[in-house]
Amino acid sequence: MCGIVGYIGSKQAQPILLNCLGKLEYRGYDSCGIAVSSSGIETCKDAIRVAALKKAAPRLGGTAGVGHTRWATHGKPSQVNAHPHLDCTGNIAVVHNGIIDNFQRLKQQLTSEGHKFVSETDTEVIPHLIEKYYDGNLEKAIEAALGDIEGSYAIIVVVASESKLIAAREDNPLKIGIGDGEDFIASDVPAILDYTDRVIYLEDGDISVITAGSIKIKQHGTEVAREEHKISWTVEDAQKAGYEHFMLKEIHEQPKVIRDTLVGWVSGEPIVDLAMMRDAGIEAMLVLACGTSYHAALVGKHIVQELLRIPVRAELASEFNYYGHTLAGTTAIVITQSGETADALKAMKRLKEAGCQLIVITNVVGSTASRIADQTIYTRAGPEISVAATKSFMAQLMVLYWLMMSYSKIEARRLASMTMELRQLPVKVQQVLENEDKILACARYLSRYEDVFFMGRGVNYPVALEGALKLKEVSYIHAEGYAAGELKHGPFALLGGNTPVIAIAAQDNTYEAMLTNIREVKARGSPLIALAEEGDEVIGELADSVITVPKVDAIFSPVVNTVALQLLAYYTAKERGCSIDFPRNLAKSVTVE
Ligand code: AGP
Repeated sequence: MCGIVGYIGSKQAQPILLNCLGKLEYRGYDSCGIAVSSSGIETCKDAIRVAALKKAAPRLGGTAGVGHTRWATHGKPSQVNAHPHLDCTGNIAVVHNGIIDNFQRLKQQLTSEGHKFVSETDTEVIPHLIEKYYDGNLEKAIEAALGDIEGSYAIIVVVASESKLIAAREDNPLKIGIGDGEDFIASDVPAILDYTDRVIYLEDGDISVITAGSIKIKQHGTEVAREEHKISWTVEDAQKAGYEHFMLKEIHEQPKVIRDTLVGWVSGEPIVDLAMMRDAGIEAMLVLACGTSYHAALVGKHIVQELLRIPVRAELASEFNYYGHTLAGTTAIVITQSGETADALKAMKRLKEAGCQLIVITNVVGSTASRIADQTIYTRAGPEISVAATKSFMAQLMVLYWLMMSYSKIEARRLASMTMELRQLPVKVQQVLENEDKILACARYLSRYEDVFFMGRGVNYPVALEGALKLKEVSYIHAEGYAAGELKHGPFALLGGNTPVIAIAAQDNTYEAMLTNIREVKARGSPLIALAEEGDEVIGELADSVITVPKVDAIFSPVVNTVALQLLAYYTAKERGCSIDFPRNLAKSVTVE
């Protein structure tokens, strides 16, 4: 999964390409490169970050060009495998995001026709295919080349002495930014917000010819119109707003994100087409996702059980894709922040084929997932730059609470009190954020350890999983989330002075059982940090340290508990000097299986 950009206009392309690329590193950052076109094509690329390329690159003259920041799938991060890739003449340069499944066969065929390959990448077949079909009509050559390709792609092509860029997508995001006498192309909106807020979303199968000031889009050779969107996100949104890291900024955005996500619905706007759902009759529900979104799905499962009292399964999309089956009349909900996660998209296609009612909860307008689903519910978390998902998780929970409350079979008084409580959540979350000092002290303590357990029960078991995932992702501490009742069935063997345990002690029907588990952990010598509600007199006696969270209705406890654990992971990683926004080996959305 990579980030690609293009610029064509009257200004020097190099600084603009590098600036846009810098905003896309959350999509992959193991190598990068640019190519600028004037009479010829000049490139500069290496297995370095964009900031280093800015320093290393010689001046490349020209007002049109392409750029790429990489997350390797084929060929290790290296100068030769970095993009852009060229054809034999060196006049055709291509940047690509996606995977070409049949590249080996194409490479053999092209090699037998005399083409010389220099990299291990799948992408390099594209410029060679274009060269093969090029007879002066670049558009035709690209159409023919794409005709040979099997797989997913978003590409931008620049050719020496042709004052145009050509962009095409199949199963990977690509947007065009409209400027004044200049145009921009990018995998994602934050890259171009410095220059324009007018954006066109390319659709699968679109091929677009872009010159300085004109944009033509074709589908199967026929010109098509695509809607122009005005992006309400400010450049600031895409930048850190004064926080040291995007992760901390995004954690602090959660009160606003909760309000923004709920605002439409609590004022009566239907969350989804009720008619469609009611007619379908919700007999069973299946919630699918990956990573943090899967933890939201697990919380969702508890909410469905409590409010709808119907059979519900929460499944990992990557597992579902290889054995999953669906009951007739299943309403399927797929949760994906980016809307581009390959495992989730594959599951969506399977669910569609199985005739399920398919709802997607996603944060990215125009994402591929929103095109596949019958109904799309957008979380309003804004751009999430930090690889570690935080505010998007919160927005997903809000959607699940409201969706299930809209269908709940519980008595009206309970529903009314829940609605009241939901409206209070931004304030409660703000209280957790103001308790940062206490969490920082626990983080200083935790940062000395290499192995940590999180334990929770009921609706907070997924929160233990999420707390562990956040700590793993950003601090590189080996952390495991466990159902508290399960530790005695094995993991107890790992407890002791070097293995702290974080216990989520929510004031619900699991509280007494959790106190027993805390005593069992203490008896085996592990340091224990408890996450407990303010006013809990008992917990202080048992735990070495207590992080208090505000009182909320038990069903909403995952909201305040998760924010506390996000901060704990952030400050622990900070204590350990980790690269918090761009953790090693990870990327923001994983578009490969
Ligand atoms: C979470 O912090 C990670 N970035 C990762 O687990 C992520 O949740 C997962 O890849 C799913 O992404 P999605 O929600 O965009 O589909």
